[in-house]
Amino acid sequence: MADAVLGIETSCDETSAAVLVGGELESLVILSQDIHKVFGGVVPELASRAHLTALPAVVDRALAEAGIAPSAIDAVAVTAGPGLAGALLVGVVYAKSFAYAGDRALIGVHHMEGHLFAPAIEDRDLSPPFVALLVSGGHTLLLDVPAWGRYRLFGETRDDAAGEAFDKVATLLGLGYPGGPAIEKFANNGDPERFTFPRPMLNEGFEFSFSGLKTAVLHAVRASSDLDRDRPHLARGFQDAVLDVLVTKLERAVRATGYRAAVLGGGVACSKALAARAADRLKGLARVAVASPRLNADNAAMIARAGWHRLRLGERSDWTLDARADLPLPGLEMTDTTHHVPRTTSL
Ligand code: KG4
Ligand code: ZN
Repeated sequence: MADAVLGIETSCDETSAAVLVGGELESLVILSQDIHKVFGGVVPELASRAHLTALPAVVDRALAEAGIAPSAIDAVAVTAGPGLAGALLVGVVYAKSFAYAGDRALIGVHHMEGHLFAPAIEDRDLSPPFVALLVSGGHTLLLDVPAWGRYRLFGETRDDAAGEAFDKVATLLGLGYPGGPAIEKFANNGDPERFTFPRPMLNEGFEFSFSGLKTAVLHAVRASSDLDRDRPHLARGFQDAVLDVLVTKLERAVRATGYRAAVLGGGVACSKALAARAADRLKGLARVAVASPRLNADNAAMIARAGWHRLRLGERSDWTLDARADLPLPGLEMTDTTHHVPRTTSL
């Protein structure tokens, strides 16, 4: 039995550890690395060093908050990818050592599968089939989830990820990193009628593209005679465009499958505006499951939860587990969206 799971997440700029016992979250510690703020984005080498310094203390703190001795941990679940290679490596090497030293089970977890499982921590009845929209700083994935661990890709982004677009537009608007929360705050005071931005690929299929939208905002920023006055309206116009595209494709996927539930996950799912808009658009069609913000932003609880699922199926990683910046999503088949003919691919 692998019932007490230590989760570890170091794929980007959060150093996080969590303890999950029998599927219940006992503790979650998230240390956000402030150092990147002065650079306006994550500096990979600094991220690795900060993980190295902080991870042992973050794990100790998670164990202490859970009131559990290290000897009572049965298994270690760690993000093995995708993410920053050096940052991932810190977590993977630590997890392997912790597991090996105590003769514990080890499971490598895909970061986006972690995001997918996040709502299941608080909503223990959540189960497939559902459509999942996973939106983070590195990925925009629309998935058909007929069962946990089985994924069909409806579509992903052709260029920037949704969160990346928020971060880049925040920079254009003179806001700090990460950009999503700052844009949402300004957008709350923005007039939706002042700026109307293009909705890329709105009427086509399930794929996304956000780089043209970013350029449209750039032109509007350049044309503005008073950025302080226009900032909330630009933020609102941009946010409305992104959310409209996301929710339109989510609805299309829900209608294509006939499923009665949709899951939102990833850092962008911290957006209250996204959750509200999705719930509104899917009213009468499907219920929308979304975790609370601390479980949507990068955290080790979601990694422990996804790992616990795989451990219960008897899956284990061996001591050759390695960090992979481009780790493919396990269990992914690509769906031909016109005919629903599965063909295999790696992400
Ligand atoms: O999943 P996550 O924490 O890290 C990655 O795996 O990338 O996602 C981070 C992304 C950032 O791009 C951030 O700007 C975005 O999530 N984000 C938001 C909001 N909160 C965070 N985007 C829009 N609205 C928000 N409220
Ligand atoms: Zn993430």
